[in-house]
Amino acid sequence: MTIGIEFFDKTKYPNLTAPAQHNGLPQPELEQAVPEDVKIIPLPKPSAISVPSMDVRQAMENRTTLRKYTQQEISLNELSYLLWVTQGVKSVTDRPATLRTVPSAGSRHAFETYLLINRVESLNPGVYRYSALKHCVYAANMEVNITEKVTTACKSQSHIRTSAVTFFWVAVLERMAWRYAERAARYVLLDAGHVCQNLYLAAESIGCGVCGIAAYDDDLTNAALGLDGVNELVVYAATVGKR
Ligand SMILES: Cc1cc2nc3c(=O)[nH]c(=O)nc-3n(C[C@H](O)[C@H](O)[C@H](O)COP(=O)(O)O)c2cc1C
Repeated sequence: MTIGIEFFDKTKYPNLTAPAQHNGLPQPELEQAVPEDVKIIPLPKPSAISVPSMDVRQAMENRTTLRKYTQQEISLNELSYLLWVTQGVKSVTDRPATLRTVPSAGSRHAFETYLLINRVESLNPGVYRYSALKHCVYAANMEVNITEKVTTACKSQSHIRTSAVTFFWVAVLERMAWRYAERAARYVLLDAGHVCQNLYLAAESIGCGVCGIAAYDDDLTNAALGLDGVNELVVYAATVGKR
């Protein structure tokens, strides 16, 4: 059985049957451009953030899924750290490709990270996008009731409403399909597992808990985040909050 673009609407991806790379087409950008008219919110530099040390074995032993969070907010340092462990760019190679804190098939790194922020130091609640190359966030949708809209889109899972922040990993499928054609869908799903596992383990060391989320309505969730669901679509999400 081939696990490929059947996860997605094939009629929308007629060109994914042959890798564009082999046809000499230029590779897509390493990440979606940051719009020029947005206010960029720089995040603390990952190298300057100190987090309590915890050995990997202990983090794995402690890890459980957590759906009940305290009202405590998470700091900007902690948000920066969690973004870095899930998508942080360590270097950009000559190809060019990004090398990050997580592996990715062919280093294609097809994800954009969107955040539903409820309780993070100095950030107003709303939907933000993370730029991994610039290590910054910017507001993408600050409409009132966005938390309720996203919660409803995710089958009314109440831990989204009560989370400090919910991560959404959005695949720009073309970035992966440029090299891997119809296998791209399989690879973005595998990549997503690596990303969320880093979140689960890193959260342990800063007193947070995580719940991975795959039960959501695709159309409603994409729409709530302002995504077209074709070129950019949510493949996985995770709530985070203080234990
Ligand atoms: C791919 C995936 C999707 C999941 N989706 C949801 C979800 O939508 N809602 C939820 O409450 N938990 C979700 N979970 C969490 C699982 O229910 C949880 O990992 C499982 O019950 C085992 O518990 P543990 O993580 O504490 O070991 C998901 C976990 C994974 C790995």
